[in-house]
Amino acid sequence: MRSLDSFPKVSLGVFPTPIQKLHNISAALETNVYVKRDDLTGLGLGGNKVRKLEYLLADAVQKGARAVFTTGGAQSNHAMLTAAAAGKMGMKPILILKKRGVTELRGNRLLESLMGTEVIFMDTDDYADIYAEMDRVGSALGVPYYKIPCGGSNALGSLGYVSCAAEIRDQGLRFDHLVCAEGSGGTMAGLALGAKLFLPGTLVHGMMVDKEPFDRITPALMRDTAALLEADVTVDGGDFILHDMCGPGYARPSGEGNEAIAMMASLEGLFLDPVYSGKAFAGLVKLAREGRFRKTDNVLFLHSGGAGGLFAVM
Ligand SMILES: Cc1ncc(COP(=O)(O)O)c(C=O)c1O
Repeated sequence: MRSLDSFPKVSLGVFPTPIQKLHNISAALETNVYVKRDDLTGLGLGGNKVRKLEYLLADAVQKGARAVFTTGGAQSNHAMLTAAAAGKMGMKPILILKKRGVTELRGNRLLESLMGTEVIFMDTDDYADIYAEMDRVGSALGVPYYKIPCGGSNALGSLGYVSCAAEIRDQGLRFDHLVCAEGSGGTMAGLALGAKLFLPGTLVHGMMVDKEPFDRITPALMRDTAALLEADVTVDGGDFILHDMCGPGYARPSGEGNEAIAMMASLEGLFLDPVYSGKAFAGLVKLAREGRFRKTDNVLFLHSGGAGGLFAVM
């Protein structure tokens, strides 16, 4: 297997992120709940995308890109952080966003306007249209450009969460369960593969916040990432568990999610978001209430950030 260090990476964030015990939540849920503070990754308002972008933008730099395209919904945390990261690396970010959700200058859109980011809206649900538009706009620029898929969820981006699993191992505590949000798949695929490689005995739970076929997407992305790493592993259905926490739909707040946001805020003074981390934490609370964790278990929740959404989507 190739070492993670053999992949070029640009430095965008502050790592390792802390792991903290949530004492009040642990008492309320009668198990040991810890949080991996990836809301503190150190670029923009923090969040999971920084780890992926360290690999993706290194690839863009190596390929001589002068402009970087990505996409997502109107309030995409990934798009906002890609703009922040590309600007920091001296490349021009161009976001081609789906005209879905809150398009006004609130939340992540406000942050993009502060950065002066070029944003083009497309009234489509089909990413093929958007990637074609990237090529049209990119060719007209007359400089080399780099396209990052929605959520940064390809094999290279997923390496960010394989390396997060190695970081968790190096932080010393052992976890029985690891819980994260699954939106475009890269975080979950990276963590599930990373757990297989570096965290034996840790079961990874993906809390699905969209209606995509993650039962196919997750193992496919794990296999692509394993191939990139030249890792000799066999990915199968037992490597992770998926839970549907989407509620009324992607980027639509759910009752359970809002309850989990309030619980985290009032008991621990931490803020989750309504699109991803709130619904993911609601999934953890649900498993605890169903008695799926033992009193002695250590359960790690990945706080993947998303604060921008609090100011637009709630
Ligand atoms: C705050 C936050 N958490 C979790 C996710 C889900 O990560 P992934 O897209 O890798 O599944 C996202 C994706 O956009 C996000 O912005």
